Amino acid sequence: MSSISDPQPAEALLRALRQVRSVRSFRPDPVPDESLTAILEVARWTGSGSNSQPWTFVVVRDPATLGAIAAASPNVRHVAGAAAAIVIVMDGAMPEIETFDEGRVAERILVAATALGLASAIGWIMPAGAAAVAALLGVPEGRRARTLVSLGYPTEEGARPKSAPGTARRPLAEMVRFERFS
Ligand SMILES: Cc1cc2nc3c(=O)[nH]c(=O)nc-3n(C[C@H](O)[C@H](O)[C@H](O)COP(=O)(O)O)c2cc1C
Repeated sequence: MSSISDPQPAEALLRALRQVRSVRSFRPDPVPDESLTAILEVARWTGSGSNSQPWTFVVVRDPATLGAIAAASPNVRHVAGAAAAIVIVMDGAMPEIETFDEGRVAERILVAATALGLASAIGWIMPAGAAAVAALLGVPEGRRARTLVSLGYPTEEGARPKSAPGTARRPLAEMVRFERFS
């Protein structure tokens, strides 16, 4: 059995991590249940402050609901065309630490989707649309539905490289210092 300490699986994982980019244009094909389950299993194993696991994952596949979420928060309009979305509902007990947990779990969902060959895009439901989305999804008072991840297979346009290789991020030399900042 291979392990993550073997060079090949490690390289595959590192490649998936480097390849995570937002793709906002999806084909209508459904996301297979096995893929959704695999992504949710990765999400389940995300570490959280005091192992509190302060989340519930709402999987949305109904196009009407996806469209209504996009209408409530137009900055997440990509969700309207997604085959599925995972809405991360946080418990809301300790907002500061939960914000970090929310980012960790969202990123793992993106990485797992990328590893499975799926396109994905994160979205933040804006405060103005939050009550409408909570009502749509039946999110109880006190919980917070802010981050969602749109999922699907990419259209031809979505699959195209978004920028010239290596140009979408500042170079490492600009963001790394050794031993001291200055
Ligand atoms: C906290 C957070 C919120 C984001 N919200 C949105 C959003 O509401 N809508 C959207 O289209 N992209 C959203 N993004 C995606 C970023 O714009 C994107 O990751 C960034 O521009 C880098 O592009 P890339 O993911 O293609 O590398 C969000 C990203 C983060 C980390």
